[in-house]
Amino acid sequence: MGASNEGGHRADTLGNVETSMRRLNRFRRLFAGVAICSLLFAVYHTNLLPSSCLSGRHRRTVGSIRWSPPSECAPGTKCGSVIVPKDYFDPDAGTATIAIALYKAIKFPKKGTVFLNPGGPGGSGTRLATKEFADLIGEDWDLLGFDPRGINKTEPQVQCFDSALDFDFHVANTVLQQGFTVMSSRNLSDPAIEAHLVEQSRQFLVLKKTQAELCANNMGDELRYMGTATVVRDMDFMSKLFDGEDGKIHYWGGSYGSILGAYLVNMLPDRAGFVVIDGIADPVNWSTEPSHKWPINWLASTEKTYRFYLETCSRAGPEACPLTKYSGEPYEEIEERLELFFDDLAITPLPVPFAFRPGFLTSGAARSLLLMYLERPPQWADSALAFSQAMAGNGTLLFNKLATPRPRSTPHYDLARSGVTCLDSPPPRTPAEVPTPEDLAAEFMRTMDKVSPHFGASVVVGEQDGGCQYWPVRGPERFAGPWNATLEWPMLIVSNTMDPITPIESGMRINSLMPASTRIIIQDGPGHCSTAIPTLCTRKLVREYYDGRLPENGTMCETSYTFFPDPSKPDATFVGLNAGDAKLLNSARIVGELLQDIRRT
Ligand SMILES: *[C@@H]1O[C@H](CO)[C@@H](O)[C@H](O)[C@H]1NC(C)=O
Ligand SMILES: *[C@@H]1O[C@H](CO)[C@@H](O)[C@H](O)[C@H]1NC(C)=O
Ligand SMILES: *[C@@H]1O[C@H](CO)[C@@H](O)[C@H](O)[C@H]1NC(C)=O
Ligand SMILES: *[C@@H]1O[C@H](CO)[C@@H](O)[C@H](O)[C@H]1NC(C)=O
Ligand SMILES: *[C@@H]1O[C@H](CO)[C@@H](O)[C@H](O)[C@H]1NC(C)=O
Ligand SMILES: *[C@@H]1O[C@H](CO)[C@@H](O)[C@H](O)[C@H]1NC(C)=O
Repeated sequence: MGASNEGGHRADTLGNVETSMRRLNRFRRLFAGVAICSLLFAVYHTNLLPSSCLSGRHRRTVGSIRWSPPSECAPGTKCGSVIVPKDYFDPDAGTATIAIALYKAIKFPKKGTVFLNPGGPGGSGTRLATKEFADLIGEDWDLLGFDPRGINKTEPQVQCFDSALDFDFHVANTVLQQGFTVMSSRNLSDPAIEAHLVEQSRQFLVLKKTQAELCANNMGDELRYMGTATVVRDMDFMSKLFDGEDGKIHYWGGSYGSILGAYLVNMLPDRAGFVVIDGIADPVNWSTEPSHKWPINWLASTEKTYRFYLETCSRAGPEACPLTKYSGEPYEEIEERLELFFDDLAITPLPVPFAFRPGFLTSGAARSLLLMYLERPPQWADSALAFSQAMAGNGTLLFNKLATPRPRSTPHYDLARSGVTCLDSPPPRTPAEVPTPEDLAAEFMRTMDKVSPHFGASVVVGEQDGGCQYWPVRGPERFAGPWNATLEWPMLIVSNTMDPITPIESGMRINSLMPASTRIIIQDGPGHCSTAIPTLCTRKLVREYYDGRLPENGTMCETSYTFFPDPSKPDATFVGLNAGDAKLLNSARIVGELLQDIRRT
């Protein structure tokens, strides 16, 4: 979950050459593997390597761990990879290589290993193994960040397009990047609105079909192992490797990571140890509804968050929030100006010649960006500036948010998100269940009508789901409940009262399905996941949880945050805090930014 652009902006340098190079590269990797293998064996003398390095075919065996030279890892971490069975139900399918990063406990006795997932799906987890994250969990745990199947350095990667650049070309100026434009959200009974959405849905579906055909050609059966159930088995496998057969699987997951957590405790309840999920997506909906029906569930708190945003802006006044005309302006007036702006754009998009890439801003893109901003309170002041400039005719800041070039990343991976969601969601059972453009448009209308008039058609830029009817493969396993497992130690659920994409209702649903095996704590504030706003109360409850102390179910944490800081006043965040609390709050801020950044790429 959360704003991301499905890896669409990862650039690489290989371009067209890469197709022909791919086969060659596979051989190269194999030989490089032999060399590194013997080198590491010589250098580290670890007893984990001999079986793999000395095996006849020079292939690493299942269960072997390879540590990279420290210079290749983030400071303070060990990094490397683990060989796992590619398919836990078919030993002949070969192996997969899971990229890992380990931040080791510095306090002893060590309690075990906590697996980390940042969300997405599609987010790389290796970056989470940091000392700041260790602050949030406790220094007597090993933290294990890993890239889930298909993602970043885990192999095989989802590489449907020959290069990240090809993928950028594919999405540029299409509905996948520009979002769905709603002609006006004010009078949905105008039949032209739905007709326009049908048109855009046709384009959406043909793009999805193109992607799926490309994936079938370039990935084929390699795509079968990206589903959440397979990732749960990977965590089980790695946990036994690191903590022994008797150890439990400990876990922290945010956003989509809450889906992975809910699968973990319900698929393998006897293996679950300390598990925290934050920013909850409803796993029942996820596994039993086709993906075009998810947003109506996700947007339950979006309007409430939007109203809070507008009211807070009004209170802050025009210096801090240029969207308001005067301090104390009724929020409806700011909202009305924004609606006029969206309606104008729906007729005439705004040319943006001087952005990172010349382009034009559509109403669909502008609404999608506003939704993305609602997820990130630390960027609310930026959002007010970007929108006020765009409303005055300069769309550069806003458009850059959509088309920022991302850091170059090798290897590239592209449709990892679809790789997960299309294996998790139920395939259509009959031709009548295959969603048509009319079905997609009707679902947008229903979502705007019932849940979110402003953002009911705006999730596709951030959450690019759909088209799974074209996806070429199914996984070896699809988990769809039951969701009422009994756990030895309750799972901790963290929800915000105003999360615009993973609403508290979803946290409550898991809590009510597992009343004795979960506790929910509630952060009273806006943003996607509790990490969106650094909050001492929540952070202390989570740290205590990993230390063996369960909070009361329903504990509420107040937030204190300056959403639109007055440029002339000093930052008061750390005033009056003791050293320990200041450190924890600062780590929370850094982890919050890191998660934001990972979900963005
Ligand atoms: C892939 O993983 C490496 C190592 O953790 C990290 O530096 C890089 O940012 C990741 N790439 C992406 C796109 O997340
Ligand atoms: C909404 O649109 C319908 C159909 O175009 C029209 O009949 C109706 O008068 C409009 N209502 C308002 C309040 O503008
Ligand atoms: C999915 O969520 C929607 C909206 O909350 C709800 O109407 C629907 O019943 C849910 N479906 C399942 C299977 O949970
Ligand atoms: C438009 O906004 C950008 C970013 O704030 C700024 O650099 C640029 O000078 C502005 N252009 C005009 C014509 O005002
Ligand atoms: C769990 O849910 C399943 C399916 O919904 C149901 O059949 C079963 O009785 C439930 N188990 C418990 C312990 O409530
Ligand atoms: C946990 O607390 C929430 C919030 O107060 C409440 O709605 C829910 O019913 C409680 N759950 C259980 C199982 O008591």
